[in-house]
Amino acid sequence: MSKIIIEGNHELTGKINISGAKNSTLALIPAAILCDDEVTITNVPEISDTKAMEEILTYLGAKLKEEKGIITIDPKNIESKEIPEEISRKLRASYYFMSALLSKYKNACMYFPGGCSIGSRPIDQTLKGYRALGATVIEEGNKYTVFADKLIGAEIYLDMPSVGATVNTLLVAVKAEGITTINNAAKEPEIVNIATFLNNMGANIKGAGTSIIKIEGVKNLHKASIEVIPDRIEAGTYMIVAALLGKDLIIENIIPEHVESLILKLKESGVKINVNRDHCVINKGDYLKSIKIKTLGFPGFPTDLQQPLATFLTQCNGVSTIEETLYENRFKNLEQLEKMGSKVKVDVKKGYITGPTPLKGKVVEATDLRGGACLVIAGLIAEGTTTIENAEHILRGYSNIVEKLQEVGAKIKIEQ
Ligand code: EPU
Repeated sequence: MSKIIIEGNHELTGKINISGAKNSTLALIPAAILCDDEVTITNVPEISDTKAMEEILTYLGAKLKEEKGIITIDPKNIESKEIPEEISRKLRASYYFMSALLSKYKNACMYFPGGCSIGSRPIDQTLKGYRALGATVIEEGNKYTVFADKLIGAEIYLDMPSVGATVNTLLVAVKAEGITTINNAAKEPEIVNIATFLNNMGANIKGAGTSIIKIEGVKNLHKASIEVIPDRIEAGTYMIVAALLGKDLIIENIIPEHVESLILKLKESGVKINVNRDHCVINKGDYLKSIKIKTLGFPGFPTDLQQPLATFLTQCNGVSTIEETLYENRFKNLEQLEKMGSKVKVDVKKGYITGPTPLKGKVVEATDLRGGACLVIAGLIAEGTTTIENAEHILRGYSNIVEKLQEVGAKIKIEQ
């Protein structure tokens, strides 16, 4: 069990450089399977989720080289074999392998994917996509066996703009015969990154980043490379840190349009942010007003930032609300924040935070990745020492978080 220990209340100044996006990388690695030749992925973040995906790829028979954030994958010796339950369960994105294997080898077998326990997270839309494209899906408990003689392009409507179902359908449709249309597709920047990678290999995908994506299937995909886009959730997390403790703190290597909703909400609350082409400069706000947040798919306010933002809301004057529309269980962090002195209330899908309240260092527990980030921010502003248990959740998605915060003046360390 890892612990992060923070001595709070230190001003932060300098630069924090944002790494490649976790949720892009987790889709780009399985996409490599579709290629007939070697692919290269650059700007890969150093996080444990990436390592877990690399392990699955190696288990399937791929050759992998990694050096300084650049991975080269040779998929030529991959076999479609069953992905055991203990591997499938490691992370949510493991099911992207099921789609890539179905797409290339016309069969795959794995178990219900894992991921942060923030809700039930069904996969019905992915299975609906497989069936629409002509695959047979056999469900036995939590085991899924999928196969097809032929995959044929189809018109698909997603019941909600699911990121996972959009990625999975893209992966299968890319090699299906004819044209597939994904209606009500997710519009997240990570979808554009994965579509660009597949197009670089010779796929024919149009409309990624909008709610209608058209894919014309191709037989073969050739050698290609892709750069992972900057992680907008990591960027947003450090922007929130800066809004509470920053003295000209620079968050660099960002795409401002990807964090627009957060920038606007922080400004609404009274934070001064100077946004430039690929970085922003943030100073701690003097008087922070309470705000209302409602989580939505991109370009709406991201669910992945509502937990880190909760700590910010403890410092705002008045009652702030968070309405979580995607996950039914993404408020566990508020119980931990309460231990540190915040005034919180949860009413089904809404969290209420009354501020400002000073926070005190305590022993708390990271129950999931973004909930863990919320507690890191709380530890940074709290008086005294905060110990965050189960910190491995945080390391799944934040590359070198301890080192990055130390660089700008935080008193933070990790004990493995
Ligand atoms: N949903 C269904 N059926 C489906 C698919 C989704 O009901 O078949 C529901 C989900 O239960 C949820 C909503 O639709 O209520 C959206 O889920 P989505 O499929 O978009 O989420 P995901 O693909 O499982 C990805 C990210 C999450 C992020 C969400 C939303 C990855 C690996 N994960 O999950 O990231 O919260 O999109 O933006 O890309 C994180 O990084 O901390 C994280 C949880």
